Amino acid sequence: MDWKPDRNSKIPIYKQLALYIENGIADGTFPPDKPLPSERSLAKDIGVNRSTVIAAYDELESLGLIERNQGSGTTVSKDIWGMAKKRIPSWSRYIEAGSFLPNLPVTQRIHKEMAEQKLINLASGELSQDLFPLSALREITSNRSFIGTLGYDHPLGNAILRQTIANHVQQYRGFETSSATILVTSGAQQALHLVVQCLLKPGDAVAIENPSYHYNLPVFQSAGIKTYYLKVDKDGINPNEIAELYKKHRIKMIFLNPIFQNPTGTLLSLERRKKILELSSEFGIPVVEDDPYSLTSFSNEKIQTLKSLDQHGNVLYISSLTKIVASGLRIGWIIGPKAVIERLADAKQQIDFGHASYSQWTANDFLESKQFESHMRDLVKELKLRRDQMAESLHTYLKDVVDFYLPEGGIHLWCRINKEFNEIQLLEESIKRGVIYVPGTTMGTEKGFARFTFARENEENIREGIKRFADALASL
Ligand SMILES: Cc1ncc(COP(=O)(O)O)c(C=O)c1O
Repeated sequence: MDWKPDRNSKIPIYKQLALYIENGIADGTFPPDKPLPSERSLAKDIGVNRSTVIAAYDELESLGLIERNQGSGTTVSKDIWGMAKKRIPSWSRYIEAGSFLPNLPVTQRIHKEMAEQKLINLASGELSQDLFPLSALREITSNRSFIGTLGYDHPLGNAILRQTIANHVQQYRGFETSSATILVTSGAQQALHLVVQCLLKPGDAVAIENPSYHYNLPVFQSAGIKTYYLKVDKDGINPNEIAELYKKHRIKMIFLNPIFQNPTGTLLSLERRKKILELSSEFGIPVVEDDPYSLTSFSNEKIQTLKSLDQHGNVLYISSLTKIVASGLRIGWIIGPKAVIERLADAKQQIDFGHASYSQWTANDFLESKQFESHMRDLVKELKLRRDQMAESLHTYLKDVVDFYLPEGGIHLWCRINKEFNEIQLLEESIKRGVIYVPGTTMGTEKGFARFTFARENEENIREGIKRFADALASL
């Protein structure tokens, strides 16, 4: 217990302690179904006589707040406030009962470490601050009068932004669409969530890449969806495996991140992209194309999205500004048949009544601005330098210990570690040395991998981060 008595206070120590525990019971620090510390250990912990703790517990017992049971110790009463018979909820049971599953414990641990301490961050899948187009965004926000409605906007998202997105996808992602078939979402993540919640039902089977984007996995599990894996090799997934999964499990949907895939950085070959669309038409099952990275090609090659090759309307296309502008804007979108988009918009209304107007306006003005093109040129150049630095550092510090494909775009590098190691121990040793990354089994079924993101740190930190990781690995 962190609490200590105030020895200068006029309130007796046993009363201070009783009050502290009473408040803790009210705010859930001491839940009703968990034992309180024994009198002896609590006395030692807070540096008082055991008789002081006994007096505090006596008082709490007389108030009906705690129960002392022979043998099982002292617990918070399930039936507190005595006479009034008002019960406090067992929050721990509620937390465990929800149908919406939590993230994997390792993922939670990584989030906590990133929030609490300054680490070299090779884990977070986003750009560093200095890669955001800050001066352009500053100019936009200071020049714009931001007039317009501040009420709830159109259920599909701001009409002007949707038209701008329609122009953007035509220019950069190779397909035509109209603003009526676009839903603005809170990042690509919300679009994926809406698809799973609205278009599938518990027990349905879907195909996903292995390894794949890990924040998706609990979303499928929470919705009771069965996931079957498509192994990713250096050219992406193998379409023949889709046919097998369809025959065996009647999969209802295929989720792909075909261009500079997270985490492998691979590009699904054009031949495979075409074959997948053929299979999708043959079986009548949609493909969800999650495409946050296609504009980051290091060779500046314009890559054909699945959607741009889709002639029959089989693809639901998802993207966002997270990996190319700024993650905190939370601007994403999904494009598909009007009826589907309206169904998803109806659900989004139930969840949040639409996206915040300010970031929609900011996104709109930036996408329309002249600076967008020059920003993308600078961004891609810098990402390539960082990728090269990461590859060089891996060669320098982990030569013969790691294998990886050199990604031609995106922000991640997927590394096989050719050494036996305990994944959690390696993560802990790395955190101790001030570097964090994503352990492979949070993203796929095969052991022995790690994902390093090269967009979140500058070249110097990337080098230092890989060096520290190599130290951690050597220490095992
Ligand atoms: C493949 C993929 N899809 C979706 C997302 C979610 O991104 P956001 O919701 O920020 O657009 C990410 C983020 O890491 C990703 O890598």
